[in-house]
Amino acid sequence: MFYNEDCILGAKKYLKDNSVDLIISDPPYGIGGDKLDKHYNRDESNVIDGYVEVTENEYPEFTMQWIKEAERVLKPSGSIYIVSGYSNLRHILNALANTKLQGKNHIIWKYNFGVYTSKKYISSHYHILYYVKPPCNQATFNTNAFFADSEKAENGGSANYLDREDVWIINREYKPNQIKNKNELPKTLLTKMILYSSNPNDIVCDLFLGSFSTAKVAIGLGRKSCGFEINKNAFDYQMQEMEKIKSGEMLSELRQVPENKLINKGKPLSKEEIEIIKNKFTHYFRKGYTKKRTIETLSKEQGRGYFSILNIVDKQEFKHNKIAERSLF
Ligand SMILES: C[S@@+](CC[C@H](N)C(=O)[O-])C[C@H]1O[C@@H](n2cnc3c(N)ncnc32)[C@H](O)[C@@H]1O
Repeated sequence: MFYNEDCILGAKKYLKDNSVDLIISDPPYGIGGDKLDKHYNRDESNVIDGYVEVTENEYPEFTMQWIKEAERVLKPSGSIYIVSGYSNLRHILNALANTKLQGKNHIIWKYNFGVYTSKKYISSHYHILYYVKPPCNQATFNTNAFFADSEKAENGGSANYLDREDVWIINREYKPNQIKNKNELPKTLLTKMILYSSNPNDIVCDLFLGSFSTAKVAIGLGRKSCGFEINKNAFDYQMQEMEKIKSGEMLSELRQVPENKLINKGKPLSKEEIEIIKNKFTHYFRKGYTKKRTIETLSKEQGRGYFSILNIVDKQEFKHNKIAERSLF
């Protein structure tokens, strides 16, 4: 569901507590963004009119209010990504510090077409704050969303490691002669956040939809979406564009990630490793994992096949352990 409303009032009216899995939000930057085109001499003839900025004075309170709503509507263990420039980053950090949300990463998004300046360095990055609502250890993070552990990058290193570094070099999209919003986020950037931090059918919310870029990618990737945009011109135009998006249509464009190789498969199990597996099983069980999910997690962690973990878990003496009995045996 999408609403042409102020997101703070709208969230209070329409979004229940603990109802969305992932929030991706790119709030107005509070730097006169509605007038910047004149300053930077950009051609904005295809940009939709009516972008709503927030004044510098209002920014701290505005930020406090929308982040409070974001915290409320996020499910426990849900994730939030906030895109911000440098000028008002401190207000976003202050507001986050006033919540129970826990910081996971401060990501730097390096883009092309930085704002040219001759007497200082050229500004060519944004900040992305990735936070999670407690309990954090159950947050969705699909470690192998893009690369299996064993895949190599061009430089010979691990492709998975490289993809999960906290500096992302992703170009903005060049859209000559197309209707657009100011500051549209690229599909590649949104795909990255959505695939790492959500699963199919999860609800992805954007409190500042702009061109509905988050919603389009979320639905394209088979998620559900909701959000707010206060600018009626952008809202009306993009609601029509949304009708062209089919749920899951982007999934077939994704590269198939090979199954992770099980590096310890076939090697004899030591007593110590068996003990580790039993302890970890108990640990995950206490966290509320099902037997199947626990075994899959342990299989990945230990580099062992599903059935070798199942065998240990099913062993008679462990079966009688009180904690194990409460599971799905
Ligand atoms: C930085 S842009 C978002 C761009 C968007 N991520 C995209 O890719 O197109 C911020 C958007 O928030 C909208 N906005 C400003 N104040 C708002 C509010 N209180 N509630 C909802 N939307 C608001 C602006 O009109 C603008 O479209």
